[in-house]
Amino acid sequence: MKKFLVAIVMAAMPLVGYAAGGHVHLDHIEVDLKNQASLQRGMQTFVNYCMGCHSAQYQRFERAAVDLGMKPELVTEHMIFGDQKVGEQMTISMSKEDAGKWFGNPPPDLTLEARLRGPDWIYTYLRSFYVDDSRPWGVNNAVFKDVGMPNVLASLQGIQVATCSHEEMALHGLRGEGVDPLTNLPLTSCSSIVKGTGQLKPEEFDKVVYDLVNFMAYIGEPSKLDSHRIGMYVLIFLAFFFVIAFALKKEYWKDVH
Ligand code: HEC
Repeated sequence: MKKFLVAIVMAAMPLVGYAAGGHVHLDHIEVDLKNQASLQRGMQTFVNYCMGCHSAQYQRFERAAVDLGMKPELVTEHMIFGDQKVGEQMTISMSKEDAGKWFGNPPPDLTLEARLRGPDWIYTYLRSFYVDDSRPWGVNNAVFKDVGMPNVLASLQGIQVATCSHEEMALHGLRGEGVDPLTNLPLTSCSSIVKGTGQLKPEEFDKVVYDLVNFMAYIGEPSKLDSHRIGMYVLIFLAFFFVIAFALKKEYWKDVH
């Protein structure tokens, strides 16, 4: 019995750690791996805006091309900017040592990032950079305090100026949508975008980031697409087999009574 109790306490330990992490507001998205057009756009954004600094070294260009329904030649032409072949991994030429010197922390490989942080976190993070002149790149981030990454999507989003303290932003989110979980009152926005600084409207920008995170969720587990397809066949087979098994059972038992 004692051992059993200890086992239960040990099993609950991760929850304690989670609770101690504090509440950070995350905007929720539903990843849709069946939406090929979204995944293709996401890959385009990833190679254009992220692969200057981040690799996705466990993913091959060709695998992505096949899974996302693109011709490998087109991927070679439009999505590979280094000297890689389409069959190679999505690596970059920036060395970890140099990057560490330039940014403080080297940009991590992003293949498994969506599994590490979760899509909601990345979606919120990429939309939560705000002006902070005390930081080396002039920006801070509501969900990643004192981040070493510049706001690489600023040309699309525009410059975001915070109107709350960092802690309030982390708690409520920069956009202030929905209701405050503590007071149940509608949230007021914690940020404003400087007019005319971004190419996209906020909804359009959100869509670009959604597609990008969708793609990052795909590279985190590319075989998920296959699993879904195969799982479907297995279920169809089981349903079919049930009918045969049932008929067989009837046949075997019919003389017993
Ligand atoms: C100019 C270089 C640069 C570019 C371009 C860049 N990043 Fe980063 N990124 C960094 C650095 C540096 C860090 C490490 C920040 C730290 O640890 O303080 C980072 C961190 C991150 C993290 C957090 C990693 C973690 O879990 O700690 C994510 C997620 C991320 N980047 C996503 C992206 C995405 C998506 C893009 C493309 C839109 C992108 N980055 C483009 C430099 C860059």
